[in-house]
Amino acid sequence: MTRASGGGGAGAQARQPAAVQGVTPLSPEDFRSATEFLAAEHRRQRGFCDLLERVSHNPRHGIAKRELEALREYLEHGFDLHMRDEEEDFLPVVEQRAAPQENMRELRAQLAHEHAVDLKIARALAAEIVNLTRHRAFQDPASFLANAWRLAEAHRRHIAWEDSVVLPRARHCLRASDHRQMLESMAARRRA
Ligand SMILES: [Fe+2]
Ligand SMILES: [Fe+2]
Repeated sequence: MTRASGGGGAGAQARQPAAVQGVTPLSPEDFRSATEFLAAEHRRQRGFCDLLERVSHNPRHGIAKRELEALREYLEHGFDLHMRDEEEDFLPVVEQRAAPQENMRELRAQLAHEHAVDLKIARALAAEIVNLTRHRAFQDPASFLANAWRLAEAHRRHIAWEDSVVLPRARHCLRASDHRQMLESMAARRRA
């Protein structure tokens, strides 16, 4: 694996069953820029959105147990890490570097609001997925199915917005030293 590829852990992914390739954790150290790391994380999140949608259609038989475990782990921990990467490391610096007319302050507030909403749903779903993997009854099956679909749909839109608006602005205005500092901080967050 080279830092130049920006793909993160390609060798490790090749050993994973096809169905869980998209959910294999990524390391900030494997990337040369924070924007490429976040974009790769978004590709991974699309894999989780696909899993959520499949769960919402057929919770008992539509998805393998190891996929469910990966999904639960991401909903419990991965989502939070990614949102903290964006809110604590990435967005404040983009706001600082961007031109005032780009309204990064408002955009940052809206993204943080969406993070809070999605995180709350993610945690509720994670608790129910534990019931699913242990063959126990759902606490609230109707909410689980609705939330799985809702999170997949809402988070796909969120990612599309970040990929099409926020990341291009960041690529334009961030400096090499910003990327270095962000990646170091994101890596430290995962070691903590
Ligand atoms: Fe986000
Ligand atoms: Fe994101």
